[in-house]
Amino acid sequence: MAGNTSKLMNNVINPQHSKEQIKIEIKGLNKVYKTRTGETIALQNTDLTIKNNEFVCVVGPSGCGKTTLLNIIGGLEESTSGSIKVEGVEVKGPGKERGVVFQQYALFPWKTVLKNVEFGLKLRGLSKQERQAKAEHYLDLVGLKDFAHAYPKELSGGMKQRVAIARAYAVEPEVLLMDEPFGALDAQTRAQLQEELLKTWQKEKKTCFFITHDVEEAVILAQRVIIMSARPGRIKEIIEVDIPYPRDQSTKLDERFIEIKNEIWSKVYREYLEVSK
Ligand SMILES: Nc1ncnc2c1ncn2[C@@H]1O[C@H](COP(=O)(O)OP(=O)(O)O)[C@@H](O)[C@H]1O
Ligand SMILES: [Mg+2]
Repeated sequence: MAGNTSKLMNNVINPQHSKEQIKIEIKGLNKVYKTRTGETIALQNTDLTIKNNEFVCVVGPSGCGKTTLLNIIGGLEESTSGSIKVEGVEVKGPGKERGVVFQQYALFPWKTVLKNVEFGLKLRGLSKQERQAKAEHYLDLVGLKDFAHAYPKELSGGMKQRVAIARAYAVEPEVLLMDEPFGALDAQTRAQLQEELLKTWQKEKKTCFFITHDVEEAVILAQRVIIMSARPGRIKEIIEVDIPYPRDQSTKLDERFIEIKNEIWSKVYREYLEVSK
């Protein structure tokens, strides 16, 4: 069984993608934070390639550099050394081809749901009608069409996060960077949003880089799961999730799903133990 499992697992650290398929290419990335008390190596020698329209999830213990990696891809933070390219172009800062969804909803409380989703479109110079049409389309996609004129305070946590996802989708970025977007939600809402995100991605493909501390969430969403190791943050292993789409909550009952989940969980658990030493 063990031999069979490892054969099936087909761990691929750096698959040979053809040039035109590569969306994000990270080579020899290092990040060192200098603080008053010393240095923290947040990322060490990280290499990673992500294909166009691929859905990858990142798991690993707290403090292993997941957010740092996402922020560097997003151009929100600078690396200490190494290279990161999106479609062959070196990342120098944020760009409209990369959208970010944070764990906190970061909505404007004084704007309606519709205006929140329209916000990024205004910055891109779309006309009022175009903005509204696009915002309505994406609100519909996340199941919030009827709440277009509500204010954030009138929505539940799960609904606010759906607005944040609609807003990120509305500007039609080629790459969606999501940092534990469902981390603060209850299990039921979380499952519902996973399903909506899956549906949305299956309908309108994008390159998704999704951080989660929930192994089950990683396996239901991703084509590949990146396991990061405890400090200094490195990519320990990448596991291919060879379960076909469409997937939904019932996929979590599949034998293959459980097998992959357990394999990843045991590897992540080893890293948790490292951190708590
Ligand atoms: N702005 C910062 N200044 C100093 N250290 C930081 C800063 N941001 C993150 N770190 C440190 O870098 C490491 C990785 O952090 P982070 O990327 O947030 O991890 P994760 O998202 O996996 O929990 C941690 O040890 C953290 O304390
Ligand atoms: Mg983090």
